[in-house]
Amino acid sequence: MEESVRSQNLDSDFPVNLRYESGFGNHFSSEALRGALPQCQNNPLVCPYGLYAEQISGSSFTAPRKLNQRSWFYRIKPSVTHEPFKPREPSGHLISEFNQATSCATPTQLRWKPTEAPERPTDFIDGLYTFCGAGSSFLRHGYAIHMYNADRSMDNCAFCNADGDFLIVPQKGRLWITTECGRMQVSPGEIVVLPQGFRFSVYLPDGPSRGYIAEVFGTHFQLPDLGPIGANGLAASRDFLVPTAWFDQSLRPGYTIVQKFGGELFTAKQDFSPFNVVAWHGNYVPYKYDLSKFCPFNTVLVDHGDPSVNTVLTAPSEKPGVALLDFVIFPPRWLVAENTFRPPYYHRNCMSEFMGLIYGAYEAKADGFVPGGASLHSCMTPHGPDTKTFEATVAVGGDSGPSRIKDTMAFMFESCLIPRVCPWALESPYLDRDYYQCWIGLRSHFSYEEKTATDGEH
Ligand SMILES: [Fe+2]
Repeated sequence: MEESVRSQNLDSDFPVNLRYESGFGNHFSSEALRGALPQCQNNPLVCPYGLYAEQISGSSFTAPRKLNQRSWFYRIKPSVTHEPFKPREPSGHLISEFNQATSCATPTQLRWKPTEAPERPTDFIDGLYTFCGAGSSFLRHGYAIHMYNADRSMDNCAFCNADGDFLIVPQKGRLWITTECGRMQVSPGEIVVLPQGFRFSVYLPDGPSRGYIAEVFGTHFQLPDLGPIGANGLAASRDFLVPTAWFDQSLRPGYTIVQKFGGELFTAKQDFSPFNVVAWHGNYVPYKYDLSKFCPFNTVLVDHGDPSVNTVLTAPSEKPGVALLDFVIFPPRWLVAENTFRPPYYHRNCMSEFMGLIYGAYEAKADGFVPGGASLHSCMTPHGPDTKTFEATVAVGGDSGPSRIKDTMAFMFESCLIPRVCPWALESPYLDRDYYQCWIGLRSHFSYEEKTATDGEH
């Protein structure tokens, strides 16, 4: 599959057309030079073109076959060819250990306004900051939710996240991402997953850019089971796109690898680009997905379905049906239920819900939740439509005919683990301290006739 990329920046060597392979969980093979992939074995004494063979393991060697993920790279120099790692200054606002020393517990409903462009030049790495999370990357169980706010492309450096998989949701500005498997363009309305350990570099062709990131520790994203829906629907395997092999063989003096390890950043110097993989094969790969291709299902008679029906990807916990982290979207769709309060219901949840809005408006919030903003409703914290939405919906009545939700894309990261919130997120000038006010106006509509009730007691 080919995709047109408009080259607006002369600095970039992104091509006019990027090629992708399609499929989810496939075993892919890709070579930028014909014959670069060894045949019938992974690790020959001498690889074609004099390349080095290097494996990246995304699961333990002995993981069950259906969960086993690894890829083989055939590269000009192996990844190990670098100087020792050193702590990076500044280390940034990243956390992968969530405890009382690093983060705060709060059951309060939280909402943030979108951040403005950075005041000083900031690349993707420096623009990363953690909002909240749970667990530990060292213990391989948990997650972190980050945002990025950047306006400058990464220069002569690559990022490597040793802690977990990144699921990136761009909200503003395209990302041109170079990975060891090849290059991808990811636009707002698409998502990209960059698995643990992959080296990648982010170019920002549109300047100021921001978005959301879910990072999962110790597991990988899967497609959800479809149950009674059947064999088709929601996100289709064939709509997931994987880059194709591309390599940079030039000398790169002073090239820096920035490694996130335990939430801290380290740097190591080398004199070549890490994007020197001439061919690769395997099923441990970065991939992207266009959310407009999602095939939503919904109730067709009464009531409001649970949001799980809109799950795009799920990172499972060890308990069946319990997600470490679900990625759920609220896309354009028809609402047709009769005699039904169609916006999301009032809710308290044993799971915790972090929401973002990519574009448009969200059906449960008439005001205040805007593209680029975020909200967090933790375990058993009440939430639901604001006063204005409730009153307007009831005023319209229950049988208003089909209505179409248009031009919107909200999403939710939902987890069974209760997030602790980073101090800078609670102290942020973008925190909406009046969020609770959106429900305060909900008034009682309760009424009954005393005579009737008294009669009922006899
Ligand atoms: Fe909810």
